[in-house]
Amino acid sequence: MNAPEDGKNIYQPHLMEIVKVISETGDTKTFHIQFQDASLRESFSFVAGQFAEYSVFGEGEATFCISSSPTRMSHLEFSVKRVGRVTNALHQLNEGDIIGFRGPYGNHFPLDKLKGKNLLFIGGGIGLAPLRSLIHNVVDTRADYREITILYGARSPQDLCFKYDLETWERNPSLKMVTTVDAGDNKWKGKVGLVPMVLEELKPSAGETMAVTCGPPIMIRYTLKSLEKLGFTPSQVWTTLEMKMKCGLGKCGRCNIGPLYVCKDGPVFSQEEIKNFTSDEF
Ligand SMILES: Cc1cc2nc3c(=O)[nH]c(=O)nc-3n(C[C@H](O)[C@H](O)[C@H](O)COP(=O)(O)OP(=O)(O)OC[C@H]3O[C@@H](n4cnc5c(N)ncnc54)[C@H](O)[C@@H]3O)c2cc1C
Ligand code: FES
Repeated sequence: MNAPEDGKNIYQPHLMEIVKVISETGDTKTFHIQFQDASLRESFSFVAGQFAEYSVFGEGEATFCISSSPTRMSHLEFSVKRVGRVTNALHQLNEGDIIGFRGPYGNHFPLDKLKGKNLLFIGGGIGLAPLRSLIHNVVDTRADYREITILYGARSPQDLCFKYDLETWERNPSLKMVTTVDAGDNKWKGKVGLVPMVLEELKPSAGETMAVTCGPPIMIRYTLKSLEKLGFTPSQVWTTLEMKMKCGLGKCGRCNIGPLYVCKDGPVFSQEEIKNFTSDEF
C-alpha cells in the first residue's frame, strides 16, 4: 500500500493498536503497533528508510521512521524520543491504546546500490532507529551482501537504544559490531570514544563499501569528515535527514533543503545529493 491518492482524504489516518511498549532509555520508547483493519495488516508494505505520520488523538501528529524491517511484518515498530507535545503524549500511552498512522511516505535506502557491497552502518543515539530497519533487512537477506560492520554510539551506557538488538548483532558471527559511549561508568567494559574517532580507529576499507549513517547533526558532521579522510566518496555515503515536517506528502513546503523536499525526495539522500547545502539547512 502507498500513500492513498484514490479520492479519499489523504490526511485520514488508519487506526493502529499499540501491542507492546519497550522503554529503551530514560527518554526513548519503542512502540509495536498493529493495524486494526485485518485487510491492511495483510496488504501493507514499505521499504526500509520510509517514515510515517503518527497521531495521538486530541494532541497532534508527528513524524517517525518505521524502525522495524519489511522482512518482519507481524507488526510495525517505531521509536520515540520525548522532546515535546506529541512525543510526550505518545510516552503516556500503553498497550491496547489506539493511535493514528498514515504512510508509508518518502523514499528508502537504495537496496539495489547496496547489494553485493560491504556495508558500514554508523549510528548515534536514536539515529539507530532507521538504520535498524535496514540492518534487520540485510541480516534477513545476508547472502546478498559482503562484509557488514555496525558502529553504534551513545552519550553513556544508559543512552544506548535497542540493547536487545546490539546483543544479538554482537553474537552474530556474520556481522562486526562495535558499540561505543562518549563516557562510560564503572560497569561499562566496552569502548569509550566519540563515533568519528572510533570510526577512524576501525579504518574500514572504502573500496566496494557503502556507508549508511544517521545520528545527531554534530555526529554526522564529524563522521562525514572521517569518512572522507578514509577515502569514501560522496556517492558511497548515505544518510537520512529529519527536517521538521507537516504534511509528509510534498504539499505544504515545510521541509525543504535547497530545492529538495525531504518528505518526498528523501528522507534518504546520498552525500553526493546534499553536499552543496550547508549543514545549517539540516
Ligand atoms: C523523516 C523523519 C523521521 C524521524 N524519525 C524519528 C524517529 O524515528 N524517532 C524520533 O524520536 N524522532 C524522529 N523524528 C523527529 C520527530 O519527528 C520529532 O522529534 C517530533 O515531531 C517532535 O514532535 P513533538 O510534538 O513532541 O515536538 P514539538 O513540541 O513540536 O517540538 C519540541 C522540540 O523538538 C524540536 N523538533 C520538532 N520536530 C523536530 C525534528 N523533525 N527534528 C528536530 N527537532 C525537532 C522542536 O524544534 C522543539 O524544540 C523524525 C523526523 C523526521 C522528519
Ligand atoms: S512536509 Fe509538507 S512538503 Fe514536506
